[in-house]
Amino acid sequence: MGELELSQIEEIVRICLLCDLSLSRTHAVPGEGSPKARIFLIGEAPGKEEDRLGRPFVGRAGQILDHLLLSIKLDRADTYITSVVKCRPPKNREPAMKEEVICNRYLARQLELIDPDVIVPMGRHAITCLFEMFGLERQEIAHVHGKTIAIIVHGKKKKIIPTYHPAVITHNPRMRLSIEKDFHAVRSALQE
Ligand code: URA
Repeated sequence: MGELELSQIEEIVRICLLCDLSLSRTHAVPGEGSPKARIFLIGEAPGKEEDRLGRPFVGRAGQILDHLLLSIKLDRADTYITSVVKCRPPKNREPAMKEEVICNRYLARQLELIDPDVIVPMGRHAITCLFEMFGLERQEIAHVHGKTIAIIVHGKKKKIIPTYHPAVITHNPRMRLSIEKDFHAVRSALQE
């Protein structure tokens, strides 16, 4: 992975056969956005619409994410958006640990290449995966969401701001306010 460019990673993901999710998917969803993005958003796994179109966050959760980005005046085109697992798990089940471990190589290289200032893991899977990647202690989402965690990667300062997965709002509309607050923390972090 180390020597591959962003577009090459995306192409490899599209033809990836490393786990059984490749057998049931329609399209792999590598992620999309600006290679120069200062903000990098990470979801859990593609859903039905994403699988159909091969693009991240284009279904219901995507509409919510677009609103959240709009609420902090951030254009989707200025971000990079992907998920921990790049292929839809059958019947939208949660990704298995094994699938996440296999897929992690792609996320790690995407992060390295884009080199964002602010990383926003959305939901328990993305938070756990990212914290493990950076050697941070595991934390409950209820405790850590909206907090700014400063890290240094290859001598560069970065901020991780965890939040809930936007799809949570569809099941629990009362969470909107809390997630909006987290996104405002993202806006502040970008301005600093
Ligand atoms: N949820 C995710 O985590 N990722 C997507 O791409 C879509 C929905």
